[in-house]
Order: sequence, then structure tokens, then C-alpha cells
Amino acid sequence: MTILVVGATGATGRLAVEELLARGHYVRVIVRSPDKLPEVLRNHDRLSVIRASVLDLSDTEMAQHLNGCSAVASCLGHELNLKGIYGHPRRLVTDAARRLCNAIKANKSEKPIKFVLMNTAGNSNRDLHEPISFGQRFVIGLLRLLLPPHVDNEKAADYLRTNIGENDSAIEWSVVRPDTLTNETKVTGYDVHPSPTRSALFNPGVTSRINVAHFIADLVTDDDTWNKWKGQMPVIYNKASS
Ligand SMILES: NC(=O)c1ccc[n+]([C@@H]2O[C@H](COP(=O)([O-])OP(=O)(O)OC[C@H]3O[C@@H](n4cnc5c(N)ncnc54)[C@H](OP(=O)(O)O)[C@@H]3O)[C@@H](O)[C@H]2O)c1
Repeated sequence: MTILVVGATGATGRLAVEELLARGHYVRVIVRSPDKLPEVLRNHDRLSVIRASVLDLSDTEMAQHLNGCSAVASCLGHELNLKGIYGHPRRLVTDAARRLCNAIKANKSEKPIKFVLMNTAGNSNRDLHEPISFGQRFVIGLLRLLLPPHVDNEKAADYLRTNIGENDSAIEWSVVRPDTLTNETKVTGYDVHPSPTRSALFNPGVTSRINVAHFIADLVTDDDTWNKWKGQMPVIYNKASS
């Protein structure tokens, strides 16, 4: 398989690239700064590096880079500084998802392309009417006002859920929702649930980035995992924190 990864220089994205390469797949990445990729990845013979800011690509370029890919993984996220949080692009994750999906449609692949979006347990799957306490609803309302990246994550998931939906002939999707991200060096046990089993705000769980990368790789490469979670927003926790 060939998989396109955006956000590949990020803390989770690079682990997803590493995991996919380790499983023997071909990976393409669109990155602003190839130097940020570890050397072992940069020089890997199954990795193609496209140097560009994902939202600066033309529609034609985007479609060309997607040509031949059977899956896309987005691990994009705003830089955690003033410019990243309050500057442009305000809708990095949503606009990238929309542009990538438009390019997938333009390519008219014979089989649906898988789209995996890295999101957050702080976002709800509104298809499932997930129960949220009054306190959490209040704080999420504040986050929407104060933290544009949170709104971006919500809108990106909503785009896949409502604009692409579950019966699109070109795109199938899954929105992965980790809780508080941590850095570990090895994959450990993790549990995946259709909805949060704890409050992301008042009783957060822990999800190591390497476990997220492993689950993303399972989703795009393993049909059973895909069929179980496509069209859903799986929440992933490290086993100890489930
Ligand atoms: N922190 C948490 O506890 C937590 C919990 C749950 C979910 N999340 C979500 O998980 C996602 C990924 O997290 P992470 O920590 O792995 O991310 P990260 O290390 O911050 O990586 C973000 C990626 O996005 C790219 N990016 C940022 N701004 C960009 C722009 N303007 N144009 C193009 N690319 C841009 C970065 O590229 P450069 O390397 O070029 O900057 C990098 O590859 C985020 O959406 C976050 O909201 C976070």
C-alpha cells in the first residue's frame, strides 16, 4: 500500500510514518520542513518527501500527490504558541481535510480511499449523542471562544461526519480521538471505545502517541480494524487509564 501522511513532522505523525514503513508499506509525506524528519526516515527508500505547506498546494498538485495512495492519515495540529493558536491558518486541520477529500474525489479511484483524522477525546461524536456533564459543556463552550484549534478539531470531524458521511463512494473515514497525549518509546496495551469512558476535562485519561500511531497503522492496513471503526470516532486510551 501507499499511504499519504500529513503532519508527518509532528510528534505523532512521525511515529505513524515509522510504523507504516516498519510494516513494509510505501509512505508519502507533505511537510514544510523535511529536516525535522529523523534522518532514518528521511533516507528511507520507501518514503517520498514532498516539501510544501499542505494548504499552499494547488488542487492539481494535491490530486497528483494523492494519486496511487489507498489511504491518507492526518496528524496535523496547531503549533502551541500564540501564532499557531490565534494566527492563520485558523482552520488548518479542517481545510486540509476538505482539500484532501476534494483531491481524492477528483482522482476518481476505483476503490474508496481511507481517511484517518487524528482528533481529540475532548470532541464529541454528535451522531451518538454522547452524554456530557453540564460543567464539561460549559468549559467546552469557553474553549470554543478562547481556543481556535479546538473549534478546528471539531469542524474537521464534523466535515467528515456530515459532508462526507457514511455512504460516499470515494472516501471512507475514521476519526481517532486520543486523550492526553504522552511520549513513550514502545507500543503498550491500549483500549479503543466508540465513545469516551471518562471526562476529557475533569478526569482525563492518557494515550501515548506511539499507541495512536500503532492504531492509525492498524486502521489503514488491517481490513478487520477498518471495518470495525470506519464512519466512527474511536476513542483510544492506554490500558492503565481505560
Ligand atoms: N496535546 C494533547 O494532549 C492532545 C490530546 C488529544 C489530541 N490532540 C490533537 O492531536 C493532534 C496532533 O498532536 P501532536 O502533538 O502529534 O502534534 P504536533 O507535534 O504539534 O504536530 C503538528 C503537525 O502539524 C503541522 N503543522 C502545524 N501548523 C501547520 C501549518 N500552518 N501548515 C502546515 N502544517 C502545519 C506541523 O508541521 P511543522 O513540523 O512544520 O510545524 C506538524 O507536522 C493535534 O490536532 C491535537 O489537537 C492533542
